[in-house]
Amino acid sequence: MASTRKSLLNTMMKHRKRLEAVPMRVQFALDPNRFRRFSASAGDILLDYSKNRIDEKAMEALFDIARAADVEGRRKAMWAGKHINVSENRAVMHMALRYQGDRPVKVDGRDVMPEVREVLAHIKLFAGQVRDGTVKGATGESFTDIVNIGIGGSDLGPAMATLALAPYTRPDLRAHYVSNVDGAHLHDTLKGLDPKRTMFIIASKTFTTDETMTNAHSARGWIARALGDAAVRDHFAAVSTNLKACDDFGIRPDRIFGFWDWVGGRYSVWSAIGLPVAIAVGFDNFAAFLKGAYEMDQHFLKTRLDRNLPVIMGMLGVWYRNAWGFATHAVLPYDQRLSRFTAYLQQQDMESNGKSVTLEGKPLAYDSGPVVWGEPGTVGQHSFYQLIHQGTSVIPCDFLIAANPHEHMPPHHDKLVANVLAQSEALMLGKTKDEVVAELKAQGLDKEQIKALTPHKLFPGNRPSNTLMYPKLTPEMLGSLVALYEHKVFVQGVVWDVDSFDQWGVELGKQLAKALLPKVQGTARNEGNDASTKGLLAHYRSLKVSE
Ligand code: F6P
Repeated sequence: MASTRKSLLNTMMKHRKRLEAVPMRVQFALDPNRFRRFSASAGDILLDYSKNRIDEKAMEALFDIARAADVEGRRKAMWAGKHINVSENRAVMHMALRYQGDRPVKVDGRDVMPEVREVLAHIKLFAGQVRDGTVKGATGESFTDIVNIGIGGSDLGPAMATLALAPYTRPDLRAHYVSNVDGAHLHDTLKGLDPKRTMFIIASKTFTTDETMTNAHSARGWIARALGDAAVRDHFAAVSTNLKACDDFGIRPDRIFGFWDWVGGRYSVWSAIGLPVAIAVGFDNFAAFLKGAYEMDQHFLKTRLDRNLPVIMGMLGVWYRNAWGFATHAVLPYDQRLSRFTAYLQQQDMESNGKSVTLEGKPLAYDSGPVVWGEPGTVGQHSFYQLIHQGTSVIPCDFLIAANPHEHMPPHHDKLVANVLAQSEALMLGKTKDEVVAELKAQGLDKEQIKALTPHKLFPGNRPSNTLMYPKLTPEMLGSLVALYEHKVFVQGVVWDVDSFDQWGVELGKQLAKALLPKVQGTARNEGNDASTKGLLAHYRSLKVSE
C-alpha cells in the first residue's frame, strides 16, 4: 500500500520538472483563458486556482492520483458509516448533524437522525429561552453573558463562528470563550461580568479534559461565592457525550446536551457544541450555518473530481507538499471577522493530518500534513508577508474575500478587495531585474545606487495562491466554507493514507503533565526526569513565591 502511494506521489515529479521551466507569469501571458480554465464554483463560492504552478496535464495527474487513492470509495465509506477512524474504531458522521434530507443516516445499523433532530430541537428551545429571557438566573434576572468553557474542538469552532457572525449577534447578549488552563483567561473574562446575569456552558466531549474541568470548577466557585451553592444549577449548562459526568458535576438534566462518539472533537461545531453560537446569533442563523455545510457536503458528494472544490484544493495541497516540498500553507482571510478561522483550521488540518504512519501503522514514505498558519489581511501584509514575497521558503496561500461587507463604510471594502487582488497578483508576477532597474532609473538613481539596490528589490514571483470569493459572510456561507476545508482535509488524508480522525499526538504531553503536577506543587520529590526538566523544576521552585 505504502509503496503504491509513494509511486503515485512520484508521478508528480515529472510534471514538476516540466512546470519548473514555465513560470506562471509566462503561462498567463500565453493563455488568456487561464482564469476560466482553472476556476470552479460550489454554490456561491468561486475558487480561482489559476495562480498555481499547474497546467492541464498536472491537474489531470492529480485527479488520477485522487482516483487511484480511492477518494471516491473512501468518501462513500465515510457516508455509509464505516469505521474509517480505524485507530479509535469509530464512524465519522458529523455530516449527519447538518443533514437536511429525509433519508435515514445509519451508524452501526441505527438511524441517528431522530436523536440528531431531538438535540437540535432542544438547542432551539433553550437558545430561544435564553434569548427571550424566559430562562433566568437564580435571582430571577435574565442572562446577558454566556461563558463557554471548553478547549480544542469544544472551543475553537464556536468561538470562530461567533466572531465570524458578529453582525447577527445582539449587544445585550454576549458570548465569551474560555479555554486555557492559565487562570488569566477565566479571570480576565469574568472581570466585569455580573454573576447574577452570567451563564456557563461546560463544553467537553469527554467531560474529563483537565483544562476544561479546572476552569469549570473555578467558574462554579465564582457563582457559589456570589450567589450561594444552590444557584449553581441555574447558571450552568453542559454539552458532552459523557452524560453521567455532567450529572455528577451538578448540571440539571434539562440543561445537558448530548452528542455522540461518531462526532470528532474538531468536527463538533455542528453538534450541541454550537449551542453558544445558537444563543448568540439565534437558532435560525445557526440552522442556516448547518444548511450551508450541508450544501457543501452535497457538492463534495456529487460533483466530479475535476470540478469539486475540496478535491481541487486538497490535491493542490498534496502537489505542493509532496512534489515541491513546501512545508507550510497560509490561510489569509481578507475578512476581519474570520480572524479565528485560521486558528480553527489549524486544529482541523494539523490534528487530522499531522501523522507519520499509514492506516495500517506503517511509517509514511512521504510527507503528510503541512503547517497551517495565517492572520487576516491586511494586517498580515505589514508583518509576515515580507517572507511570503521574498523569503527563501515558498508558501502556498489561500486568500478569502467577500464581495459585500456587512457595513456601509466606503471606501473600506474596495480597498480591502484591491489589496487581496494585489497580493495574489504580486506573488504570481514577482518583479524582474529589468522591471526593478527601469523603476529605479525613473526615480533618478545613479548606476551605482541601482546596482546596490536591485537585488533587494527583486521579487522572485511564481508563488502560488488560491482565491476564494463569495457574495457575503452569512451564516450559510460560513457553514459552506468550514465544510469545504473539512472535506479538503479528508481528501488529503485519503491520499496520504493516514487516519485523519484520531489525535494520539496530544496524549503524551497530557500524561507527563499529570505526572509532573505533584513535583511542581512540591508534594513529590524532584527525581526521575531528565536533567533539563529537573533543572527547570528546581529553578521554578527557587523563583516561586509561596502563596
Ligand atoms: O486536543 C485533543 C482533544 O482531544 C481535541 O481533539 C478535542 O477537541 C479537545 O481535546 C477537547 O476535548 P473534550 O471536548 O473532550 O474536552
